[in-house]
Amino acid sequence: MSADAAYAGRRFIDREEFLPFFRPDLGEEEIAAVTAVLRGGWLTYGARVREFGTACADYLETPRAEPVSSATAGLHLALEALDIGPGDEVILPSLTFVATLSAVLHRGAVPVLADIDPGTLCLDPVACARLVTSRTRAIMPVDMGGHPCAMADFRALAAEHDLKIVRDAAHSFGAREHGRRVGSGCDATVFSFYATKCITTGDGGLVTCDDPALADRVARLAFHGMDGNAWQRYGDKGRWYYEIVEPGWKHHLGDPAAALGLVQLARSDDFMARRTAVARLYNERLAGLPGVTLPPEQPHIAHAWHLYMLRVDPDVVPGGRDRVIADLTANNIGSSVHFIPLHHHPAFGELAAKFGGNLPETERYFRQAVSLPLFPAMTRAEAEDVATVVRASVEAALA
Ligand SMILES: Cc1ncc(COP(=O)(O)O)c(C=O)c1O
Repeated sequence: MSADAAYAGRRFIDREEFLPFFRPDLGEEEIAAVTAVLRGGWLTYGARVREFGTACADYLETPRAEPVSSATAGLHLALEALDIGPGDEVILPSLTFVATLSAVLHRGAVPVLADIDPGTLCLDPVACARLVTSRTRAIMPVDMGGHPCAMADFRALAAEHDLKIVRDAAHSFGAREHGRRVGSGCDATVFSFYATKCITTGDGGLVTCDDPALADRVARLAFHGMDGNAWQRYGDKGRWYYEIVEPGWKHHLGDPAAALGLVQLARSDDFMARRTAVARLYNERLAGLPGVTLPPEQPHIAHAWHLYMLRVDPDVVPGGRDRVIADLTANNIGSSVHFIPLHHHPAFGELAAKFGGNLPETERYFRQAVSLPLFPAMTRAEAEDVATVVRASVEAALA
């Protein structure tokens, strides 16, 4: 299926400068906000983190939002706060980043890999339902690329079988379904603020919960399992005494990152609009190419467009996505593939043996997948360059 290993790509445009797959949009406001924190001298969890959590909850129209050190940490904390642990089965897609799985494994729970719905590239609720057993305790749908998963179906499934839902929304900060922001309507929703995500704190994440008691437990587990406002103990209203209520982790965010996040949050809708404009341009320029499938987008959703996940079918377009990637590289344009399915990794051979034969849509997608550059600061000319090269690449392969 892959392009001839010797195929070095063809030059279609005259692009001198490398266009990266992603470039963060950071300005003077971000620099000033972080500098102010550094001058203030409070470098760890403090007032900025609390302000950021409240601002995120308001933006996401959700009761509680707890900033954490990463989505990976957030997924782990959410499972732990829901008491999901050894022997509990958790259903997740194989088409995701390893972090979704790591959270399950580090809880000692049992991962069960399900197929994707090609119409969304997210976990397929029907495939998921088939895998529910008496030991299933939770489902972890992923909003792939920023497209919200079929949450209504997962809620129905969870209600029927008394399951918890931990939504991996690492890609979908700002997205909407039926007009409502992703971030409520299930037990826990976990966002990522990693450097390439919709908004960034460098590294960071967020856990939102409808139930304030669950959010309290996430926050406590993220801070060593300490009681109350122990973080304040070095502030002017602080006191030295604290109690550890349960063993926890060191997974909280710090004030410099939160200060950066507050500025990025204010820019979130603008970022999303600019990413959407790039995606629309790609959709227009790449429509109608034989063997090429544009990324899914359903009418009731507002896509976060974290990723532009194109499919190039090697059975129609000789060389498929490998050829497109080689051509993008030859024209000084970055690209990526999201994701290598979990069961393909050497560390998870057991999962391949157990579930590998039952993931046809995941396998089909992975053979065809290429993600194009997409970031808010991308210029129209840069997006046109990408589309021109992809179109020329496919047309040359078909000629
Ligand atoms: C689907 C998914 N889940 C979780 C994560 C982990 O995010 P973080 O880097 O914030 O831990 C990522 C990161 O790329 C991701 O793509």
